[in-house]
Amino acid sequence: MNKIGFIGTGNLAGSILKGLNQRNLDFEIYLNNKTKQKADALAQQFNAKSCSFSEVVAESDVIFLAVKPKDIKGLLNDLSGCSLSGKLIITVAAGIGLSVYEQALPGVGIVRVMPNTSCAVLQAITGMVRGKYVTDEQAKIAEQIFSAVGKFLWVEDQKINAVTAVSGSGPAYFYFFAEMMAQAGVELGLSSEEAIILARETLVGAGKMVAEDSRSPQELRQAVTSPNGTTYEAIEVFRKEGLNEIVSKAMEACFKRAVEMEGEYMG
Ligand SMILES: NC(=O)c1ccc[n+]([C@@H]2O[C@H](COP(=O)([O-])OP(=O)(O)OC[C@H]3O[C@@H](n4cnc5c(N)ncnc54)[C@H](OP(=O)(O)O)[C@@H]3O)[C@@H](O)[C@H]2O)c1
Repeated sequence: MNKIGFIGTGNLAGSILKGLNQRNLDFEIYLNNKTKQKADALAQQFNAKSCSFSEVVAESDVIFLAVKPKDIKGLLNDLSGCSLSGKLIITVAAGIGLSVYEQALPGVGIVRVMPNTSCAVLQAITGMVRGKYVTDEQAKIAEQIFSAVGKFLWVEDQKINAVTAVSGSGPAYFYFFAEMMAQAGVELGLSSEEAIILARETLVGAGKMVAEDSRSPQELRQAVTSPNGTTYEAIEVFRKEGLNEIVSKAMEACFKRAVEMEGEYMG
């Protein structure tokens, strides 16, 4: 049985735990959070143990660092005084390069990951970067955890900010689009409840089509866009008004923010 510890039990840790809890995996879970009540509540919900920082570190084979980037520096200071031999550290913090962890914790196996909150419904896609001291067995454990809550993709460290821009922050882009579609539906005469259910279920259905149909998103779009039809008219407006450029600019801003965060928090 693997013993997994979480330092920081906020939104993302909660999503991962919610996902793992739906799988019948042989894991024992230890939780530690600055505000203890948060760890206690999750421990009760997910049959885990809420405990001190030292107990999480001592007991766990795999230790998740699930705090905000600004808190990583302090956490690495605390961890550098602990015995971490044979343990795997998995960090979820955005914008902090693998080398920062490897410098602070020499010789320790580190996997840097960028999941998204769809872990909670077992539909995450997680970009993973393998540190130089990670053993094959530890890499398999990381794969086992993230394949339990969705899919994973190993990438090089320098690509992780691009992963953040696409899939780490991606769920919010689709929520925003559904929100705007519902608003536009109201302007076209639907009630707010009607517009929200139509936009929401459309997003769910389109997601399922993308997941279950072997065609690419582009092929799926082309298949439902007949020339001079209603969908065609809408897509033409998206094109002419520059939606492509807006999406590119937004993702570039996300990418740049991830790059900036590295300097801000570790500087
Ligand atoms: N949310 C996402 O969609 C997403 C996606 C990919 C990656 N991430 C990454 O995931 C990380 C966590 O994000 P989040 O949204 O889960 O943030 P969050 O909800 O604020 O959770 C962070 C938790 O860490 C706790 N904490 C801070 N310092 C601590 C310490 N030294 N020891 C123990 N606990 C400590 C905080 O406790 P208190 O509340 O008591 O201060 C808080 O509960 C971030 O680094 C982010 O970049 C998030």
